[in-house]
Amino acid sequence: MSSQRTEIPAEEIRRQQTICLRLRERFAAMPHAPLAMVDTYGCQQNEADSERLRGMLAEMGFGFTEDEAEADIVVVNTCAVREHAEMRVLGNVGALSHTKKANRDQIIVVCGCMAQAPGMAERIRRSYPYVDLVFGPQAMWRFPELLERRLAGRKRVFEVPDEPGSVAEGLPVCRKDGVKAWLSVMHGCNNFCTYCIVPYVRGRERSRRPEEVLEEAREIIAGGRRDITLLGQNVNSYGKDLDDPVDFADLLCMINDLPGDFVVRFMTSHPKDASEKLFRTMAECEKVARVIHLPFQAGNDRVLKAMNRGYTRDDYLKKVELARSLMPDLVLTSDIIVGFPGETEEEFEDTLSLLERVRFDALFTFIYSPRPGTPAARMDDPFTREQKQARFDRLLETQNRISAEKHREYIGRTLRVLTDGTGTGRSGFPETTARTDGGRLVRIPGELPLGVFLNVKITDSTTWALTGQPEDR
Ligand code: SAH
Ligand code: SF4
Ligand code: F3S
Repeated sequence: MSSQRTEIPAEEIRRQQTICLRLRERFAAMPHAPLAMVDTYGCQQNEADSERLRGMLAEMGFGFTEDEAEADIVVVNTCAVREHAEMRVLGNVGALSHTKKANRDQIIVVCGCMAQAPGMAERIRRSYPYVDLVFGPQAMWRFPELLERRLAGRKRVFEVPDEPGSVAEGLPVCRKDGVKAWLSVMHGCNNFCTYCIVPYVRGRERSRRPEEVLEEAREIIAGGRRDITLLGQNVNSYGKDLDDPVDFADLLCMINDLPGDFVVRFMTSHPKDASEKLFRTMAECEKVARVIHLPFQAGNDRVLKAMNRGYTRDDYLKKVELARSLMPDLVLTSDIIVGFPGETEEEFEDTLSLLERVRFDALFTFIYSPRPGTPAARMDDPFTREQKQARFDRLLETQNRISAEKHREYIGRTLRVLTDGTGTGRSGFPETTARTDGGRLVRIPGELPLGVFLNVKITDSTTWALTGQPEDR
């Protein structure tokens, strides 16, 4: 396996840094301080990639803005997971024709998963002539080089080779302020669920070396952040491509052993690979939050098979039972797709009954969206959008009731939370927002320092949030 794993040599990364410095000189000659806008769509993995893109831009001397009209470079980091995500991106890229008209020197970059989706680069080439540079996730580490190439020539640059991907260490990172941090532990996906575009756009699974992950975790903790989320499309595959005999549970233990007051969580776990060792490790490691995002997608075995998920309803229920027996206070969340091609009413009822049986704390629910190039997009689908929407509404109604009931069960309990934001309560007074280790939102009346762990007593709840009072006040 390890023979297929490509690590980008350190001198290649240094070459990119040298290009950053060259570009820095070039941009410094502009009449004003150069500004960049990075617009991110999609999942946390994309957020983490954008932190790298911002890191490279900062090395090129850019400051940052949220206003595309004043940006000298706009980088749109895109998502292709559902058609809706693509339409939003294309709408916003379309609107950039106006900012480019007002500022002919503006550089427009489209990168990320959608750039790599089948046929999309061609579409951008034809329909968005003002886009300067397009590259996919596997080419991201070469952003400085690609940008320099664009600036040197009159031709637009399209870099979307179909490649399995590599591991590039040593890229600069620029995180936004806050108490949380994303930490990618692996890239790509080998699972090829039949509905999903991710394996086509993100390449094959490859893990970062544990020492690199630990080094980044140390930096994050030293920087004062308290909430680390380890990221991978299927973190349970971590380490399979490494020479060291290390798996995801081992990695969690190593992070748990780092000094400091922090909480570590992770996503996503594929149910077929979630092991007893993982659950035991979670139960034993005091800094690992007892929360697991375990997407089941559908409650019916025929549908699960057609999705190529690799587990049955019964396998899933047994895993949940095992996890809960080891962690009685486990917070469990999941993803569901409604309206997979050919899913019947009865098959959908199996999804609903699974919901009632497991009683998830929260769900991320999606209506199936055909992704060109995936097997499911070629399957027969006799059900209408309206039928799927009606099922979706029933699903939401069921889950909202369960979430509200589960939240009510918290009333009277004392929980450890991490303060992470400020807001205004319903009565108009200031409040502090916080998250439990399990990721539940807690509103606390009054202004409190951020990034602090507190014990709060839960006094009230809604479908979406809990209200609490600090214990020691
Ligand atoms: N790697 C993660 C999921 C990444 S995509 C995992 O396997 O759990 C996030 C979620 O988007 C998926 O869990 C799935 O529920 C949903 N999704 C993916 N492709 C989809 C599609 N074509 N239509 C609708 N939802 C989709
Ligand atoms: Fe997509 Fe399946 Fe891979 Fe998740 S595990 S990214 S759903 S192919
Ligand atoms: Fe994430 Fe969207 Fe890509 S969900 S992996 S940004 S297709």
